[in-house]
Amino acid sequence: MANTHRLGILLSGRGSNFMAIADNVAAGKIPAEIAVVISNRPNAPGLEEAQRRGFDARLIPSKGLEREQYDRLVVEALKEKQVGLVCLAGFMRLLSPYFVSQFPNRILNIHPALLPAFPGLEAQRQALEHGVKITGCTVHFVDENLDAGPIVLQTAIPVLDYDTPETLSARILNEEHRLYSEAINVILSGAWRIEGRRVIRTEIGG
Ligand code: GAR
Repeated sequence: MANTHRLGILLSGRGSNFMAIADNVAAGKIPAEIAVVISNRPNAPGLEEAQRRGFDARLIPSKGLEREQYDRLVVEALKEKQVGLVCLAGFMRLLSPYFVSQFPNRILNIHPALLPAFPGLEAQRQALEHGVKITGCTVHFVDENLDAGPIVLQTAIPVLDYDTPETLSARILNEEHRLYSEAINVILSGAWRIEGRRVIRTEIGG
């Protein structure tokens, strides 16, 4: 049986958001357990770190597979591990309607911009090139569209005149590490509901 307090982390690269979540779980700041870490890319540093930390860390390569064909493999692994909340942490793939239907309102993603601004790749560069003065990061539920789905939490971060994509990304990433764990805790508390596109916080049990 799936259990919301069993997390499945999906990543494709560096894995710093995964590490921040894992640190907070280890410190007792997130009342959950990381049941499995899955990467679609071989040699993802995040996957190697998950192995080092003793997690069930699995490479499920996506290369050459149709989207849904791949997603069926991942969903099977998540179900085998009784995962109840899926956290995309730099998982650079769109999910199929099949995947989304298997975990309704149980998939989170983090994006380095204030959605719906700057979805897709290189959101920090997009923000700089557009000339916005404020950007940030967003944790949202995942649906089958790119960086869409109801927003759980956002944080605003000023864009400074001397920012480069690198300096801006570093400041956003710092906030991502805090925001993702906070959003996971909101969802785990059960004190929320979705109205249209809005995630409304409720009293516990309300
Ligand atoms: C993070 O900045 C995350 O917000 C971004 O990829 C990076 C992954 O870093 N995700 C997206 O752009 C999703 N559209 P990490 O591997 O160190 O967590």
